[in-house]
Amino acid sequence: MAARILDGKKISAAVREDIKARAAALTERTGIVPGLAVILVGENPASQVYVRNKKKACEEAGFYSVVITMPADTEQETLLEKIEELKADRQIHGILVQLPLPPQIDEQAVIAAIPPEKDVDAFHPENVGHIMIGDHRFLPCTPAGVMKMLEIEDIPVAGRECVVIGRSNIVGKPMAMLLLQANGTVTICHSKTKNLAEVTRRADILVSAVGKAGFVTADMVKPGAVVIDVGMNRNAEGKLCGDVDFPAVSEIASAITPVPGGVGVMTITMLLENTLRAALNAEISAYR
Ligand code: GUN
Repeated sequence: MAARILDGKKISAAVREDIKARAAALTERTGIVPGLAVILVGENPASQVYVRNKKKACEEAGFYSVVITMPADTEQETLLEKIEELKADRQIHGILVQLPLPPQIDEQAVIAAIPPEKDVDAFHPENVGHIMIGDHRFLPCTPAGVMKMLEIEDIPVAGRECVVIGRSNIVGKPMAMLLLQANGTVTICHSKTKNLAEVTRRADILVSAVGKAGFVTADMVKPGAVVIDVGMNRNAEGKLCGDVDFPAVSEIASAITPVPGGVGVMTITMLLENTLRAALNAEISAYR
């Protein structure tokens, strides 16, 4: 039987309406408009698309947003100065530096320079630590988007076998942590994992964050599993696609996310949620 499609666009529409209403209430009550600054260094075409989509989502939610573009040969110091400026800007509640960064810039140094209370990506070591102990300020957008999808679609996690393929700081590791906090039994697989298909076939919930088109084939999936595709790749024809062989896997999974229209849309939705949360926190801090 063909799998149920987990429609990120449809789920996002409802969540974004709620965010928009809460933002409007904040603005009416206090005059505060949630504000997001996105910094893009260089001209990576995929990053340009992501940044454009983030700005558009902000506008639709009634947020203030600025996109700061810097040339690919920007010195690290120049980027850090820009972050310092945004740190002091009271109209900006969230700062996001689009990754990847050019090789002359130390990604971790940049992440550490973002004030944790404006770190709407939740990449700062302080925020990562909060997530690790289950006491978060912000949740990282992609894993949080996946959890929101599972929640809205009534897909239980507690007690189930969850397998995450990929161990990046952005997706794999925090994804595993959130599934663990939801009481899943979690396995993380990576490029050195032996007998990968044997491990992935145990999964009731399989999350792929590899970045390779067609990586997850039907033989790697248990019949009836929920398959979450975090991949964002281009196939040989230049078409956007995920990690999962969608036509074959959707024949055996019970539910599956498409690409595009799945997790990617949810990621931006959770960025809006984090930016609103940062603005609400700023309001609370103002009264302290
Ligand atoms: N590049 C790919 N995904 C992300 C993300 O979630 N945040 C940032 N800052 N850069 C990214």
